[in-house]
Amino acid sequence: MDGNGRWAQRRSLPRTAGHRAAETTVIDIIEAARAAGVEWLSLYAFSTENWNRPGPEVDYLMRLVRRVVRKHAPLLLARGIRCRFLGVTDPRIPRELARDFDDLATLTADNQGMTLTVAFDHGGRRDIVEAARSLIRSGTPADEVTERLFADHLPFPDTPDVDLVIRTSGEQRISNFMLWQVAYAEWVFPEVLWPDFRAPDFLACLHTYRCRDRRFGGVPPRTNGDSS
Ligand code: IPE
Ligand code: MG
Repeated sequence: MDGNGRWAQRRSLPRTAGHRAAETTVIDIIEAARAAGVEWLSLYAFSTENWNRPGPEVDYLMRLVRRVVRKHAPLLLARGIRCRFLGVTDPRIPRELARDFDDLATLTADNQGMTLTVAFDHGGRRDIVEAARSLIRSGTPADEVTERLFADHLPFPDTPDVDLVIRTSGEQRISNFMLWQVAYAEWVFPEVLWPDFRAPDFLACLHTYRCRDRRFGGVPPRTNGDSS
């Protein structure tokens, strides 16, 4: 979800105004994804690197996210959305916010609809390092480590590989997002800034995805590698 700061800047507003405007987009995209039949939606809300932002902006984001989580909990429950939070380990996260995350995850744990993963204080590299530590602690002999076993030590190992990553605002970077899970993801980079991103933009990204030819390193169907 990129481009909040630039959205505000273009309006001569403080960056925080861009974050506030992002709330509408978040809800719109959650609804659009659910209506489109998406079963797993992940939103990258705050990275391990975002701690490097100025203190007041970080504080604002913490307060905003808390307000959004509390305000929309009934809607998420009513829509059958299972919510969970990826990351959330840094002690700088306000205790009340961490508790609200836990409460929302517990409240929606039995929902059978879309799974919404909010990556907050998330870093793909950290997850990989933590998985390695967990594997070593489990005493698994090195020769028995497989990709599947390794993935079982990542947080939320039931999360399927990512099919599509949408990064708004035209930036073309991974920025440490779910590094293991995006190995074969398709990527789209719409120019629109996150606060302006709406359901039709999201559906356009899904359409782009459907038109992609995913080969996973293989060859197109109905060919065997030669032209005969
Ligand atoms: C994304 O918007 C929101 C967060 C990372 C919290 P930015 O704040 O990165 O917006 P730009 O990139 O400065 O425009
Ligand atoms: Mg940015």
